[in-house]
Amino acid sequence: MDYSKFFAKIANRRQPNLIRRMAEDYIHNPSAISFASGMPNAQTFPFKEVNVTCKDESHIKLKDRNLDDALQYGPTKGYLPLVAKWKELQKKWHNPKFENWDVHFTSGSQDGISKMFDMLIDVRDPVMVQIPTYSATLGALLPLLPEFIGIEQDQDGIIPEQIYQNCKKRLETNKPMPKFLYVNPIGANPTGTVLPEERKKEIYELAEKYDFLILEDDAYYFLHFMDDQPTSFLSIDTDGRVIRFDSFSKIFSAGLRLGAVTAHKDILGTLSLHFQCSNLQPSSLSQILIYKLFESWSDEKYEQHFKGIQKFYRERRDIMIRSLTKHLTGLAEWSTPKAGMFVWLKITALEDVYDVVMKKCINQGLFVITGHAFNSDPTQKNQNMRICYSHVTEEEIEKGLSVLSNIIKEEIASRTNKK
Ligand SMILES: Cc1ncc(COP(=O)(O)O)c(C=O)c1O
Repeated sequence: MDYSKFFAKIANRRQPNLIRRMAEDYIHNPSAISFASGMPNAQTFPFKEVNVTCKDESHIKLKDRNLDDALQYGPTKGYLPLVAKWKELQKKWHNPKFENWDVHFTSGSQDGISKMFDMLIDVRDPVMVQIPTYSATLGALLPLLPEFIGIEQDQDGIIPEQIYQNCKKRLETNKPMPKFLYVNPIGANPTGTVLPEERKKEIYELAEKYDFLILEDDAYYFLHFMDDQPTSFLSIDTDGRVIRFDSFSKIFSAGLRLGAVTAHKDILGTLSLHFQCSNLQPSSLSQILIYKLFESWSDEKYEQHFKGIQKFYRERRDIMIRSLTKHLTGLAEWSTPKAGMFVWLKITALEDVYDVVMKKCINQGLFVITGHAFNSDPTQKNQNMRICYSHVTEEEIEKGLSVLSNIIKEEIASRTNKK
């Protein structure tokens, strides 16, 4: 595919950073003498060893060469042994069907997503976005001033018919066609939906027909509650039009700030130019820790780890749903999340929940996110709230939902009295 038509003007203006290129060439030729890059000398660093004990009592010890690598600058696209391992895993999990795909590590998946938006969007470029949309995605998109084409979700995620109708109409009326579709296929944030296989295929066919890219932000890929692992858009991509974002935040640690993009190498090459002049690379220490974990774990061990995470969150979800049924039946509607960490509530008796969330709930020591945060136009009335079950206890869920239920009842009563 020729990707240049998808790139924004700013992407075409970026130039390679010669120092980074020299440093990367030097990594492949360590016997050469380098007067080129300004790497600090690791002898001056105060750290002697990094020892990490895992919960299964295995140890990761970084010293000598490993420690130097962990404390030093490294290649822009990522620590090379980790890049190779991650490619092997991407092949195993998604088996991309197009040539020349590659991976690029990022400082959390959000880093890759926001840079990708910068790389693709010029002012007023049309983009299709699942609605409601993860608030940090909106935060990265809004300042670029694209034309938003909202694609609504039902209980199975985004509705392909809406993509079709929008694209068809734009083509008929000679409007510019959308550059991409942004979607969370598994455990959409905030709705918790999982796109069924047939919908993914239908959407991919539309992407081929109307020639748009698919930005697959799949932060909850491993946090699903289905019998079988749902598949990715990447796994059905034959043209190289899917750009996949993986996050390590929910499976290893959010604080390590590590993510990865998988896409055609021409897309990643352009993305890399942005890294070369911004964060230069993701943390070497974080990458080596994850690499060492991968190195010491068997395939069965990852599977076990991911299954353990799924079981943990499924139990939390079930507690949340039971408690919601007890406290909010008749006041709110929701679908049981099929993945992820959130329930998307619609408070049916209230036209708008902003004041309830931002004043009443906070005053009573309860924090939820108002639906306004997930709308590209936050000034519109919104009946929704996102509530997260990942890190609250059963007692907190019970107490919090009882408080929420009382606040909503009081609000309904006070609005009725005012009429
Ligand atoms: C849909 C979605 N995408 C991306 C991210 C960001 O993940 P990371 O921590 O890898 O930057 C999140 C975080 O919650 C998310 O929900």
